[in-house]
Amino acid sequence: MEEKKKTLEQILGEWMADAFHKALPENALRDADLSVTPATDEKFGDYQCNAAMGLARVLKTSPRKIAEQVLASAPAHEWVDRCEVAGAGFINIFLRTDRLARHLEAVEEDPSLGTPAVGADKTVVLDYSSPNVAKPMHIGHIRSTVIGNALDRLHRFLGYRVVADNHLGDWGTQFGLLIMGYRHFADQVRLQARPIEELERIYVASYDKSREDEAWLNEARRELVKLQQGDPENLALWQLFVDLSMKEFERIYRRLGVTFDLVRGESYYRDRLSDVLERLRSEGLAEESEGAQVVRLEEEELPLCIVQKSDGGYNYATSDLATVQSRMEEFAPEAIVYVTDERQQLHFNQCFAIARRLGWRVNLVHVWFGLMRLPEGTFSTREGNVIKLERLLDEAETRALALVREASPDMPETQQRDVARAVGIGAIKYADLSQNPQSLITFTWDKALAMDGNSAPYLQYACARISSVQDKYRERFPQGDPAQWPIILGEPVERRLALRLIRFPSVVLRAAALYRPSVLADYLYDLAQTYSSFYQNVPFLKAEEGVRESRVRLCGLVVRTLRQGLNLLGIETPERI
Ligand code: ARG
Repeated sequence: MEEKKKTLEQILGEWMADAFHKALPENALRDADLSVTPATDEKFGDYQCNAAMGLARVLKTSPRKIAEQVLASAPAHEWVDRCEVAGAGFINIFLRTDRLARHLEAVEEDPSLGTPAVGADKTVVLDYSSPNVAKPMHIGHIRSTVIGNALDRLHRFLGYRVVADNHLGDWGTQFGLLIMGYRHFADQVRLQARPIEELERIYVASYDKSREDEAWLNEARRELVKLQQGDPENLALWQLFVDLSMKEFERIYRRLGVTFDLVRGESYYRDRLSDVLERLRSEGLAEESEGAQVVRLEEEELPLCIVQKSDGGYNYATSDLATVQSRMEEFAPEAIVYVTDERQQLHFNQCFAIARRLGWRVNLVHVWFGLMRLPEGTFSTREGNVIKLERLLDEAETRALALVREASPDMPETQQRDVARAVGIGAIKYADLSQNPQSLITFTWDKALAMDGNSAPYLQYACARISSVQDKYRERFPQGDPAQWPIILGEPVERRLALRLIRFPSVVLRAAALYRPSVLADYLYDLAQTYSSFYQNVPFLKAEEGVRESRVRLCGLVVRTLRQGLNLLGIETPERI
C-alpha cells in the first residue's frame, strides 16, 4: 500500500516539522517536540500539535503567534483539509474525509493493516517466564509469561527477529541439598505424579536436616562441587530435576499458547563466569573486599555488587553478565529485554550499570511489574504453585463454559468447550495485560469475565457479533460484492470509527516501544465501543445499496483489527461465541 512505511502520525508529524522549520529559526527548534498526536477531543479536530507552547519561552513571543506563523508557512497536504489555532496556541488539524476513506481502502489490502515493519533487520532478545527448577512457579512467573509473550508477538509483528529465551533458574547452590534429598527421601511415585511438589518436599527436608546436622551440610557442599566439576552421576540427577520441572512448566505453557525459541537457563553460561570475573578485574572494575570480589557502583548511587563470594562461588549478577555477553556475541541484538516482578529492579540496575561500564553496546531493558492480588484463598498457603495455577486456569474455563452455554445453548458441546477454553484463558491474560503493569491490581472473576466491560470476553464477543453481521449480509445479498463499492464516511459516527481504525499501527508501535501491552488493550476496548455506537446508530442491512456495502467493509476492518490486536496479546478469537 502507499506510504507503507509510515503511520499517519509520522506523515503528519513530518509535515508539521517541515512547517516549523520553514517558519522559525533553526536554533530555536533544536530540542523541540514537534510531534502530532490524535486530538484529545473531537472539538479540537482530528490531530493536534502542541509544540508552539514550548517554543514561546525560547522565542519570547506568544504561542498563538508562533502557531499562526507556522500555519502560514505550511504547504498544502493531501491529508489535511484545514488547520486552526485554538486556545493557548494549539494547532488543530482536520483531515480530509475522502482521503481517510481511500486510506482505509488501502489498509484493507494490507495484511499488516498499515503497520510499518520498523523492526526489519533488528533483533531483540526477550528473556521471560524464567521459573526456577525444582521450585513452584509463582504468580510472578505467570505474569512474566503473559506480558513477555505479548511483547514477543508485538515485536514479531513489527518485523523484528525475536529470540524468546526462557532463562530457567537451573544452576545454583540448591542442587547440593537437592541431590542429598533425592538420594535419601525421594518417593518415586510422588515424583512421577507431582514432580515439582516432590522436589520441593525433598529439598525442604534436606535443608532442615542441614540445619542440625553439620556432616549433612558438608556432604551437600561436596555434592555441589562434584556437580560443578561435571561428575556424571550428579549431572544426570541435575538433568532429571530440570526435565521433571520442565515437563510441568510445559503444561502451563501449552495451555497459555506460549512457545520459546530457546530454553537455556543459567547453566548454559556457567563456563563463562570466570571469564567475566577476569574481565571485570582486568578493567579495574572488580576489587577484593573481605575475601569477596565486588564492583562499587557509587557513581550510579547503587549498592556495591558482589560478583564472587568469598567461598569462590559466583552470584546471580555474574551469571546475568555472562548471559548478556553471550547473547551479544551470538545474536547482536539491538535490545535485551527482561520481564520479571518488581523485586529484581536492584539486580538489573546493578547488572546494567556494570555492562555500561564495560562499554557493552546494547540496550538493556528491565520491564517490571507489581504484584497481582488473586481471589481470596487461591494462593493461601504458599505464594502459589503450578498445581494451583492450573486450578486457576481450570476455574477460568469452567466459569467461561457457563457463559458460553448461556450465550449459545445450541452450540455442540465440544465446540462450547473449545470456545470456553479460549474465553477463560483469554480472560486471565487480558485481566493482566489491560492493566498498567506497575500498579497493584486485584484480580476478580467478575471483572475478568464481564461481558459488558473492559474484558477479553467482551472483545471476543464483539468479534463474533461483527462476523455474524457480515454473515447476515452474505445471506441476504448473495450477489453483493462490497469491494466494488467505495468506502463512504457520510455519518459522523462512521468518520469517528475510521479515525480509530487508522490509529492501529501507531498504537502497536507505541505498545512495543513502551513495552506496554496495555496501550494496545486500551485501544481495542475503545475501538469496540466506537464500533458499537456505530452499529447502534446507523442502519445496516436496511441502508441503501452502496452505503450498506461501505458499512460492511468498515465492519470487516473493525473485526480484522480487533482479531489482530487480540492475537498480539496472545488471545484467541473464536468465530462464534
Ligand atoms: N529465575 C528468576 C526468578 O525466578 C528470573 C530470571 C530472570 N531473568 C534473568 N536473566 N535474570 O526469579
